[in-house]
Amino acid sequence: MAAFRGGVTSLKNALFNPSGSVFRSQVAAVVRCMSTGQYQNLIVDKKGQNQNVGFIQLNRPKALNALCDELMVELTQAVTDFENDGNVGCIVITGSEKAFAAGADIKEMQKRDFSQAYDENFTAAWTKVAECKKPIIAAVNGYALGGGNELAMMCDIIYAGEKAKFGQPEIKLGTIPGAGGTQRLTQSIGKSKAMEMVLTGNPINAEDAEKAGLVSKVFPVEQLVDEAIKLGETISAQSKLVSAMCKEAVSASFEMSLREGLHFEKRTFHATFATHDRMAGMTAFIEKRPADFKDK
Ligand code: CAA
Repeated sequence: MAAFRGGVTSLKNALFNPSGSVFRSQVAAVVRCMSTGQYQNLIVDKKGQNQNVGFIQLNRPKALNALCDELMVELTQAVTDFENDGNVGCIVITGSEKAFAAGADIKEMQKRDFSQAYDENFTAAWTKVAECKKPIIAAVNGYALGGGNELAMMCDIIYAGEKAKFGQPEIKLGTIPGAGGTQRLTQSIGKSKAMEMVLTGNPINAEDAEKAGLVSKVFPVEQLVDEAIKLGETISAQSKLVSAMCKEAVSASFEMSLREGLHFEKRTFHATFATHDRMAGMTAFIEKRPADFKDK
């Protein structure tokens, strides 16, 4: 298990919401993490020939990787560390063959009342994965349910194992998706399919998820993680500066009107003309050799 590297600053970021109030239920988890300096719910490593793919495996097998507070604090920390690691160009998040993640931790959640959920802005601290500048690939085997599916959708690309199941079963628990399921799923697969999943709680399989556009590729279960790492290596070989700009521009399409998005894209495209790597890429093409990107 890798030790925490990012230190106190990013833990503080995980602890405080924008209005400055403490996520009280996470304090104990963070104190525990800080005192041991190790991840209790994750396996964190670097993969690929050049060790440039950040690898995070959710590792809470007894609860099918249910996303308890402590796991989410650790995940925020691990993603932040890789975001700050100059050698890492892409991050892969995966789970086990049985479960990517079976959702928010129902046993923890069951005790919360409205005022706690509201006061803590429950699930707001989960957003680091969606906000990370570097591309993130979800490699989903088994169940991606509720918050598990929402976590996968916070990633930029989803690869699935052929036995994966994607669902938003919250309605069966008397609640609704609370970490982006009603929004990102609808943007991803359209209203009719999203409504059916959210209103019935019934999951879809990997093949249907690929057809619907939720997933970009499906692989045999045992090949999935290697394929995700290979993709991570391909992305990591590009300019990290420009891949962050690509990610920002594609992500903007979910937030902006077409006119605003096209304007943002144009300005970002223009901005690449101020980079070393744009000149390096085009010169290398003309000179028929690989580009030597410097991430600046
Ligand atoms: N939270 C807490 N514990 C969970 C869990 C969860 N989301 N999912 C599974 N577990 C635990 C089970 O309680 C069980 O623990 P015990 O052995 O101590 O009883 C263990 O993991 C194994 O689970 P099962 O025995 O249920 O395994 P299974 O193979 O029979 O079923 C499953 C697998 C279909 C995924 C089933 O576990 C299940 O339905 N899980 C809940 C899925 C769910 O409803 N997720 C949505 C959560 S709400 C949410 O995520 C809100 C949000 O938007 C943020």
